[in-house]
Amino acid sequence: MEFCFGLLQTRRSNTSWISLTFLCSMLCMWTRVECWSYYYSDTVMNWENARAWCQENYTDMVAIQNQEEIGYLNSSLPRKVYYYWIGIRKVNKVWTWVGTNKSLTAEATNWAKGEPNGRNKRRKMENEDCVEMYIKRESQPAKWNDERCGKLKTALCYSAACKDNMCRYGDCVETINSHKCACFEGFYGDKCEQVVKCNAEEVKVPDKGSVNCTHTFGNFSYASVCQYSCEEGYQLSMSKHLTCTASKQWSEQPPTCELVQCEQMSSPARGSMKCSGPLGSSSFQATCAFTCDEGYVLAGSQSNTLQCEASGLWNDSKPFCVGVQCPYLQELDNGVVSCEGDADVRFSYGNTCSFSCAPGYHLVGPSRATCTSAAEWSERMPRCEAITCQNPEGDAHIITQCSQHLTELRPGSTCSFSCEAGFELQGAHTTQCSEDGQWSKVLPTCTVVQCEQMSSPARGSMKCSGPLGSSSFQATCAFTCDEGYVLAGSQSNTLQCEASGLWNDSKPFCVGVQCPYLQELDNGVVSCEGDADVRFSYGNTCSFSCAPGYHLVGPSRATCTSAAEWSERMPRCEAITCQNPEGDAHIITQCSQHLTELRPGSTCSFSCEAGFELQGAHTTQCSEDGQWSKVLPTCTAMGCPAPEIPTGAQISCSLSLSSPASTVTPHPLGKVCTFICDEGHELQGAPSMECANLGRWSSTPPSCTAVRCPSLEAPENGDVNCSNAEPVYNSQCSFTCNQDHSLDGRDLLTCDRHGNWTGERPNCQAPVSQMSAIVSGSAVGGALSLTGLSLAIWILKRLRQKGSKFELNSNSDIEDPPQVYKNSIESLI
Ligand SMILES: *[C@@H]1O[C@H](CO)[C@@H](O)[C@H](O)[C@H]1NC(C)=O
Ligand SMILES: *[C@@H]1O[C@H](CO)[C@@H](O)[C@H](O)[C@H]1NC(C)=O
Ligand SMILES: *[C@@H]1O[C@H](CO)[C@@H](O)[C@H](O)[C@H]1NC(C)=O
Repeated sequence: MEFCFGLLQTRRSNTSWISLTFLCSMLCMWTRVECWSYYYSDTVMNWENARAWCQENYTDMVAIQNQEEIGYLNSSLPRKVYYYWIGIRKVNKVWTWVGTNKSLTAEATNWAKGEPNGRNKRRKMENEDCVEMYIKRESQPAKWNDERCGKLKTALCYSAACKDNMCRYGDCVETINSHKCACFEGFYGDKCEQVVKCNAEEVKVPDKGSVNCTHTFGNFSYASVCQYSCEEGYQLSMSKHLTCTASKQWSEQPPTCELVQCEQMSSPARGSMKCSGPLGSSSFQATCAFTCDEGYVLAGSQSNTLQCEASGLWNDSKPFCVGVQCPYLQELDNGVVSCEGDADVRFSYGNTCSFSCAPGYHLVGPSRATCTSAAEWSERMPRCEAITCQNPEGDAHIITQCSQHLTELRPGSTCSFSCEAGFELQGAHTTQCSEDGQWSKVLPTCTVVQCEQMSSPARGSMKCSGPLGSSSFQATCAFTCDEGYVLAGSQSNTLQCEASGLWNDSKPFCVGVQCPYLQELDNGVVSCEGDADVRFSYGNTCSFSCAPGYHLVGPSRATCTSAAEWSERMPRCEAITCQNPEGDAHIITQCSQHLTELRPGSTCSFSCEAGFELQGAHTTQCSEDGQWSKVLPTCTAMGCPAPEIPTGAQISCSLSLSSPASTVTPHPLGKVCTFICDEGHELQGAPSMECANLGRWSSTPPSCTAVRCPSLEAPENGDVNCSNAEPVYNSQCSFTCNQDHSLDGRDLLTCDRHGNWTGERPNCQAPVSQMSAIVSGSAVGGALSLTGLSLAIWILKRLRQKGSKFELNSNSDIEDPPQVYKNSIESLI
């Protein structure tokens, strides 16, 4: 700016302004300082030309910006006679800065006193639409005056310091001889190249949502816009987006994503509702299922289920419950249908309609019906029928005669009644149809005729039955009697109830059967139970008894059986005697009278045959009751003592054939006992004995002695050892040989039951060396009689036999192997 001041001063020293201007531009370019500089013309010109000149050579006519500029111009410019034009002009009666086309504001005015238009009125001049500036005027210096635009004045111009793109994000503002950048909102720096930044960390990504930022001037800088969005089912807590403001603050707090909530549902009237959802019962995705009470159906929505959608609205309108509708009920012919409630609910669920008939008609069917939940009426529609009396017929046995046909029994008709045979009329005989369709009298009935009730006869039974009752008309009763009784008193065993109410015969009864008449007993009495007429009847018993000195022979009583016979034969009475006292075969009886007339007082004495003893009383007397005074005695045989059984013997006893056999009491007399000796023993004496008279045995018992074998000597060069000292039955003797001698024969002999030893006594043989000499000798001797081949075979066999003997070294029977060899040799030779 100072440098530009210098320019103006140089202009004052009469240097050409063109060259100065040039110099100024050169210097300005050189110093790279942009200046706002003022210029004025040498000549005067009108306002239009002055502006054209300024615009052609500089930027434009001067626009006054502030008092400092005014002061600067007043002090720097030379005084001119006609002063200077400046860039203000009246446009449409408004003072306007022509450079910027902005109206002159009150604050910026710098009018001289009385201006504008002060002189215009006095000089009656008009069109003073341009403005001059009184540079260095004595009074009112640097103030403005409005002037006619055609006047000739010095042009005051300026050239601007600001160039295109000097300020990146701002306006270049001219200052005196300089400029500055007035940054746009949100920018700073000398050239407004810096952009204000907001805190990026404040832009938070919300839960269940996302954020998308767009940047105009730089990341998270002035005018950056962050748009928030939420996942489906969530909504932003605030609809506005975030904008980075010039104050480095975001325009809003970051929003959050909130779960979409639908309006809370409520149960419909006459129904219920059930809501649930993964996020809440009335949140996004929640469903509410609606049901209606019985008799109501859902209406108002397409489905019984509503869902909360992402929009926060249910996907359908809330349903409601309406009662089901039953079919329309027509009016009744000759009657009226009246229903509860208003017209719209008359035929709805639960509503009841009642039916009534016009006078002279009566309702046939239900008097009311209710609309059920199944949309049906609870009852069928009734009808109204003309009143008639009901057909009076009823009882099957009634006979009805009416004044009119039975189907047209109008009020006034009469009917009379009677009953079929066997039935009795109960009630009125006639009746009349009254105005209300009722009979004047209760209709009579026919009751069946009843006969007297029968009862079972004594000693018998009865069975009654009938189609109308067991003692009613047509009933029959069949009678039977117990065993021993027969029916009497009626012609048949069956009675029938007749229409007259009487049985067709008198009631029968049961009488017992009669047994034959019983005569009195000789020397006795027959006495029977009961009265004379039943004495000999079924079931009655008669008993028999004898006079003293007689006794009853036969049954003491007899009963009359159902077969009309006595249970027993008639007894008789006999004179009492004692029984023949003889009994035991060996008893000898002597009585005072002959045995067949034994009478009371008779005596008998008893004795026994030889060899028998009397057991009991020796005498007895016949008493008055035909019994002996003592028990009759018996004779028992005198027996032998038990025989002694000798050692080594067995005994068996039986009755001899000569004795009288009795298997019941084997009598001791005549008993024969036989003795048998055990094995290896011999009987000495009589082998049997018999029990003889007076209890003595016929002989003494025998004895049994053991069998003996011959005594055994020890063999030469050997010894014997016996089990018993005496060589009796079953004794055993074993033989042994001295050293170097071998036993030839059995080493053990036993005494058998016949007194013989079981073998020969064995010998003790000399040693083997002596034996081989004997064998060789035999071989040589044998060779004389055998062929060469036979001899060889024979020797081989002997050797094999010897070898086998070694193999058969056992305690078992040593006799068998040599037999086998013998057989083998025989088969070979
Ligand atoms: C200047 O401003 C006025 C009113 O604002 C307008 O009518 C006129 O056309 C403008 N002139 C130019 C050259 O822009
Ligand atoms: C804006 O951010 C992106 C990614 O972080 C980066 O590549 C780019 O250089 C940044 N721009 C400015 C002007 O800082
Ligand atoms: C509303 O949502 C429920 C459950 O998904 C479905 O059953 C029903 O049909 C939907 N209603 C409409 C009108 O789409």
